Amino acid sequence: MSSVAVIGSQWGDEGKGKIVDWLSSRADVVVRFQGGHNAGHTLVIDGKEYKLNLLPSGIVRKNKLSIIGNGVVVSPTALLKEIKAVKEKGVEVSPENLLLSESANLILSVHIALDEAMEIARGGNPIGTTKRGIGPCYEDKIARRGVRVCDLRHPDVLREKLESMMRHHNILLKAYGLDAVSPDKVYDELMALAPDLLSYAGVAWLKLDEAKTEGKKILFEGAQGTMLDIDHGTYPFVTSSNTVAASASSGTGMGVNAVKYVLGITKAYTTRVGTGPFPTELNDETGEFLGQKGKEFGTVTGRKRRCGWFDAVLVRQAVKLSGMQGIALTKLDVLDGLDEIKICVGYELDGKRLDYYPPSQVDQARVKPVYEAVEGWKESTYGARTWAALPAQAIKYVRYIEELIEAPVSMLSTSPERDDTILVRDPFLD
Ligand code: GDP
Ligand code: IMO
Ligand code: MG
Repeated sequence: MSSVAVIGSQWGDEGKGKIVDWLSSRADVVVRFQGGHNAGHTLVIDGKEYKLNLLPSGIVRKNKLSIIGNGVVVSPTALLKEIKAVKEKGVEVSPENLLLSESANLILSVHIALDEAMEIARGGNPIGTTKRGIGPCYEDKIARRGVRVCDLRHPDVLREKLESMMRHHNILLKAYGLDAVSPDKVYDELMALAPDLLSYAGVAWLKLDEAKTEGKKILFEGAQGTMLDIDHGTYPFVTSSNTVAASASSGTGMGVNAVKYVLGITKAYTTRVGTGPFPTELNDETGEFLGQKGKEFGTVTGRKRRCGWFDAVLVRQAVKLSGMQGIALTKLDVLDGLDEIKICVGYELDGKRLDYYPPSQVDQARVKPVYEAVEGWKESTYGARTWAALPAQAIKYVRYIEELIEAPVSMLSTSPERDDTILVRDPFLD
C-alpha cells in the first residue's frame, strides 16, 4: 500500500489544499482526520477557485472517495452548506464519493456561542479563534459529553445526551451573561438535519481498512499546522486538536504504520492568523509586501495574516515532530523581486543560542531570531514548472532551506494554479 499524509509545518495556510488537490490525482481515497471547518483550503483549477472547509480536497476530482474521519469535529449545518455550495459549482457529491465517520463529534450552535463567550472572557489576551465552536466541541468530546453522528440514529439517546450536555453548558452560558439554550431546541435543529447527514454516514475505519486491503492509495489531508498543535504548538495559542502526522492514525482508525510518507507543506516565508508568539514576524514594509503579494488574508475569517521571514528552526522542529520525509515548498514566487531574503537559523534567549523553539509561552515570546541573509532574485518564478525555469538564486534559497530543516524538497509550488507545480520526488512512489 502506498499512502501519504499532508501536514502543515508552520501555523497553517501553507497551501495544503493546493498540494492535496495535486496529489489526489494519484490517490484513490482522500481523508480528513482532525480539525473542522476552522480549516480553509484553497484549490485553483483552470482559474476556478474552490475554498473547502470540511470536505476533503479530493472531492473535486471524479472517482475518488472522500472521507471525513472520526477525529474531525463536524458542524452539520456547515457541512451541508458546503456540500450544496460545491455542488452548485458543478462538483458531484453523493454518498457514493463522500463518507462521514459515524464516530465524529458534532459541533452544535451552543459550541459556537461558547467559543465567542470564552474569547470575550479572555479579555485582552484572546486566542483569536475562528469562532466556529472547534475548541468547545473538542472539550465536550474529551469530557465524554459530546454528541456523535451515530447518535442521530437513536433519537431517545440523543435527547438524553442533549439534556445532560445542556445542564452543564447552561450553567456556563448563564455565568457568561448569555441566555440558556433549551435542549429541545438543539434536538429539533439536529433532527431536522439528521436524514441528510446520515445519508453520508458510515463506519469509516472499516472502509479505510477495505481500501488498504485492496491496495488503494490513501491521502491523509491535515488541517492547521504543527505550531497550532495542542501539544507541540505555541500553547495556549493553538487549536484544540493534534495536527502532527500521528493524528492521521487516531483520527481515522488506521494503524500508525498506515502512513508511508509524511509530506510537510511549507511556505517559503511564514504567516500566522490569530494571536500568539511569532519570532520572525515583520511589522514593516517587507511584512506588508509579503502580505500583499501573497494575498495573505484568512480563507475562513478574512483576517489579515501576520507575515514574516522563513523560520528554519521552527520548520526543522515540525519535520522531526511529524517524521516528515520531505516537504512541498509553496509560494516561492511571493519572494520574487526582494533584494535580500532573511532566514531564521537559530534563536537567542538570555544571551544563549537555541536551536529549538522552547515550550514555555514566556520563552516563546522572548526568543530573538538569529538571521542569515541571502541574496534575492529579480526574475519571476511565478508559474514555473521546471527547475530549469528557476533563477539560480532561487534554487540556492531552496537548497539552503533543505540543509537547514534536514529534509528534502519533494515538491515546489509557484502559483495557486494546480499545474504550476514542480515534482522532485513522487511521495506516492517513495
Ligand atoms: P491551506 O489552508 O494550507 O490549504 O492554505 P490556504 O488555502 O488557506 O492558503 C494558501 C493560499 O496560497 C491560497 O490562496 C492558495 O491559492 C495560495 N497558494 C498556494 N500555493 C501557492 C503558490 O505556490 N504561490 C502563490 N502565489 N499562491 C499559492
Ligand atoms: P488551515 O487548515 C490558520 C488558528 C486560529 C487561531 C487558532 C485557534 O486552513 O491551515 P480555532 O478556531 O481552531 O480554535 O482557532 O488556530 N487556526 C488556523 N490558522 N489556518 C488554519 O487552518 C487554522 N485553523 C485554526 O486563527 O489562532
Ligand atoms: Mg487555510
